[in-house]
Amino acid sequence: MADLSTFEEWKSIYKKPERYDPLTKWLDPTEIELKTILNLIDLKDKTILDVGAGTGRLAIPISEIAKKVCAIEPHEDMINYMEKKVVEIENIEVKRASAEDIPYPDDFFDVVICSWVIQHFKDFKKSFSEIKRVLNKNGILLVVYNNGDDDWEKLTLIEDPNSKGIFQKRYKNVLKELKGFQTVKTKVLDSFITFPNIQIAEKIIRETRGLEAAKYVRENNMLKILNKMFIVYAKK
Ligand SMILES: C[S@@+](CC[C@H](N)C(=O)[O-])C[C@H]1O[C@@H](n2cnc3c(N)ncnc32)[C@H](O)[C@@H]1O
Repeated sequence: MADLSTFEEWKSIYKKPERYDPLTKWLDPTEIELKTILNLIDLKDKTILDVGAGTGRLAIPISEIAKKVCAIEPHEDMINYMEKKVVEIENIEVKRASAEDIPYPDDFFDVVICSWVIQHFKDFKKSFSEIKRVLNKNGILLVVYNNGDDDWEKLTLIEDPNSKGIFQKRYKNVLKELKGFQTVKTKVLDSFITFPNIQIAEKIIRETRGLEAAKYVRENNMLKILNKMFIVYAKK
């Protein structure tokens, strides 16, 4: 089993945040993730924490509904990029921090969102206990990640057959850490990553999955990649 804490996926993309937003347009062209989050939780007038907010992809549209969005992000390049994007949005606060050490007081947030970020948690227990600490009573945590039973898993296994079950292990770890929450609901969504051409598909897969996976994508002309999303929604 690959070591979760040293999994290097996406690192080269985080160094060039201007590439991240177009990439997420291919990753979720219909914005099914944002639409599902908005259907699951009433964010109106709520105080929200976006953990590992990246370029502010979710924080920005959510700030149009919420009272306040606090976006924490540890990567300096991502932070600098996000700060420029949100400079005129008064109800978004950006801080350099990670899930393991959240710079907010106890019971501060109504909702915490962890979207595509659990793969980077160095310490699951510590991160989830921090999230629980900053959530208020009846506060809601929402985690989005791969279900594992999809093309991402297939491509991951081409590159590293020892990583079998890596996605399932991560989401099972999430569920384990949510034992103290009142209600935990999960939802699996089928979404399709659609690349505009095979050169871009190959480049992105090379950077995020590796050479062998990229070769497979080119040989099979995979412009559409099934990306099953696992969404967990828990009440404190
Ligand atoms: C795939 S991006 C997701 C960004 C954003 N949440 C989204 O859905 O578009 C993962 C982000 O998590 C950040 N990250 C890495 N380690 C982290 C940690 N320990 N705690 C919080 N965020 C982290 C990365 O720098 C990166 O910006």
